[in-house]
Amino acid sequence: MSNLLNEINTRRTFAIISHPDAGKTTITEKVLLFGQAIQKAGTVKGRGSNQHAKSDWMEMEKERGISVTTSVMQFPYNKALVNLLDTPGHEDFSEDTYRTLTAVDSCLMVIDAAKGVEDRTRKLMEVTRLRTTPIVTFMNKCDRDIRDPMELLDEVETELNIACAPITWPIGCGKEFKGVYHIHRGETLLYKTGQGHTIQEVRSIKGLDNPELDAAIGDELAGQLREELELVIGASHEFDLELFLAGELSPVYFGTALGNFGVDHVLDGLTEWAPTPLPRETEDRTVVATEENFTGFVFKIQANMDPKHRDRIAFMRIVSGKYSQGMKMNHVRIGKQVSISDAVTFMAGDRERAGDAFAGDIIGLHNHGTIQIGDTFTQGEKLKFTGIPNFAPELFRRIRLRDPLKQKQLLKGLVQLSEEGAVQVFRPLINNDLIVGAVGILQFDVVVARLKAEYNVDALYESVNVNTARWVSSTDVKKFEDFKRKCESNLALDGGDNLTYIAPSRVNLNLSIERYPEVTFNHTREN
Ligand code: G4P
Repeated sequence: MSNLLNEINTRRTFAIISHPDAGKTTITEKVLLFGQAIQKAGTVKGRGSNQHAKSDWMEMEKERGISVTTSVMQFPYNKALVNLLDTPGHEDFSEDTYRTLTAVDSCLMVIDAAKGVEDRTRKLMEVTRLRTTPIVTFMNKCDRDIRDPMELLDEVETELNIACAPITWPIGCGKEFKGVYHIHRGETLLYKTGQGHTIQEVRSIKGLDNPELDAAIGDELAGQLREELELVIGASHEFDLELFLAGELSPVYFGTALGNFGVDHVLDGLTEWAPTPLPRETEDRTVVATEENFTGFVFKIQANMDPKHRDRIAFMRIVSGKYSQGMKMNHVRIGKQVSISDAVTFMAGDRERAGDAFAGDIIGLHNHGTIQIGDTFTQGEKLKFTGIPNFAPELFRRIRLRDPLKQKQLLKGLVQLSEEGAVQVFRPLINNDLIVGAVGILQFDVVVARLKAEYNVDALYESVNVNTARWVSSTDVKKFEDFKRKCESNLALDGGDNLTYIAPSRVNLNLSIERYPEVTFNHTREN
């Protein structure tokens, strides 16, 4: 097999999705521990009694200047090279999460087994359905009193509309949590408490009828396990790779992230079954990972990851081929050849200069304002990857300066923040207002804080009579001109100078949609 093929086939690129508090951060730590990206798992939120581990973690974040938990981490596991992409947990940043999910090939869904399927999990699953994304499930917190495992599987199946194939099965829960039976390996893996910060030596007992099992977990639990398994294996789905890859069936694991038990089982499954880098659609054709020529798209821009450098990084998912340092790429939207000598990779959670990177990997490009979310880079071919949208905001505020002399900086800041996808900005055609649009309320606070910190601009919000926005276009030039004339007071330009209809109410929007059938009102806009 060629080197390119070899490299690409080892890649597994995934994200963790979950409801807040289900344990995503804790699992990320443990995944990094197994990936040898960190030596010891600490506690990001400063909980727990192991102060030493905690400070290790904080130190590491400080040294590296980035929050390890908010970016991209690459590490080897088994024979695979794993790229783990973090998704922001807060609901207000769902747009960012959405775009991150366009850059992965599979997802790990974490469920709090004491609670079951929660709101945000439902929403995120809808997003993964927009593309077919294979899902691996981890039922977390088995060291607490969890719900009946069979009932949990049922709930996932009915609420999330995906079949469940248990790969491991919990033995007891809460104080009585003894470990799991690995259905595929036919062995019991025993849990020991108090080992959460390190990789545990796990004792395993082969076979379900092994008397050692009774000795280890007690006759009662052993009997119960045998009974349950008979039922479970009869009543649940068997793992089927094809159905998994089609996003129709999820392998399910049980464990405790806090106790660092079961996370490695999930990683074993993920690296074995999750897809190698998947093809992506462009406007003209499908690009497959193993094509010789390099292609990639930008799905996220993040500012000032490193306070020392105050730079902005554009995260690019490589779709095909290979990146090597200093290579020339065509930045398709602006039609320019650029030489990329200093892209960063995220090997082992660290930010280092990229050597080579391959399809499936994420690289970070230093962005000086020319790169936008959705941009395609190639080795010459004019391609445009599709499916990386902006969503029409639902919340609007007029933004005003405390110091009117800073208008230029304000506009610059807002345009840059909108390129990054942190917020959207609209400039009405008929006045000099600046209207900020967001999908979630928290974005407003973030924008004011960042304007102050990064652009030295003191701004505040006022309410504005805008309720919803739609990007407008039409193939009928004459009718479009007529529409623009008549609706001028409702039109604005967004951060990328795209024409937008800003409506004071849904009723107004619906009336205009009816009145101007030749005009398309889009809820999403692809960059
Ligand atoms: P998130 O990123 O999904 O929001 O979750 P995070 O990992 O921060 O975990 C949320 C809480 O759940 C944390 O508690 C964490 O310690 C706990 N947790 C995670 N995994 C497990 C597990 O396997 N077992 C148990 N028992 N707890 C787990 P916290 O921040 O200390 O505080 P609190 O939320 O419990 O008050």
